[in-house]
Amino acid sequence: MKTIISPSILGGSFSNMEKVISDLDQSRAEYIHFDVMDGDFVPNLTFGPQFISDLRVKTKKIFDVHLMIKRVGRFLDKYINAGSDIITFHYEIDENLNELINKIKSNNIKVGIAIKPKTPWEEIKKYLHTIDQVIIMTVEPGFGGQLFMNDQVKKIKSLSNYINENNLVVDIEVDGGVNYETGELCIKAGANVLVAGSFLFQQDNLKIATNNLNDFFNK
Ligand code: DX5
Ligand code: ZN
Repeated sequence: MKTIISPSILGGSFSNMEKVISDLDQSRAEYIHFDVMDGDFVPNLTFGPQFISDLRVKTKKIFDVHLMIKRVGRFLDKYINAGSDIITFHYEIDENLNELINKIKSNNIKVGIAIKPKTPWEEIKKYLHTIDQVIIMTVEPGFGGQLFMNDQVKKIKSLSNYINENNLVVDIEVDGGVNYETGELCIKAGANVLVAGSFLFQQDNLKIATNNLNDFFNK
């Protein structure tokens, strides 16, 4: 199965985002991962829908939007209209998840549910037949550059087994602390989408680093 790479722009500086998007647009990564944070659901604040819509016109890459915000329903239209291709919200919010799923799907956008490290994957079992991806957080959400949490690998494996045994069509995206070795653990456990932020941006050339990561997992 192909491994999809989703570079997280949180790893970069917002001062040269045009260059970041241009590099990623020329890379072989299929997705671009946007970490939206509201300073409430997570203790960090990043950007809103305007930032995404401004970058939408710069590339045709798949916009993989990760909402780490509390009030998804209130702002959902803005992220739909900003040009998101996939919208993933967190299971841990206090909203009607089925309503959010239906609204996103009715706009022909893929929908995902993300779970924090402490959340068992079984909590989202009842949504698996209706969503397109699960984001397994392998760091506490809120910041890039954190260490990968190895104890999440068995969660990936268990979820992957359930998806395969029940012939479900759901991508498993891993988000946080991904590099060559941690990514390999995740792919072996059944994940097929890897988010990488700091690992890519800490290297000299973003486009080359992204292509190397993509080619490593698709050789
Ligand atoms: C963390 C974000 C991740 C993070 C990934 O809350 O959801 O996408 O930016 O960055 P790295 O790869 O540096 O952990
Ligand atoms: Zn993310």
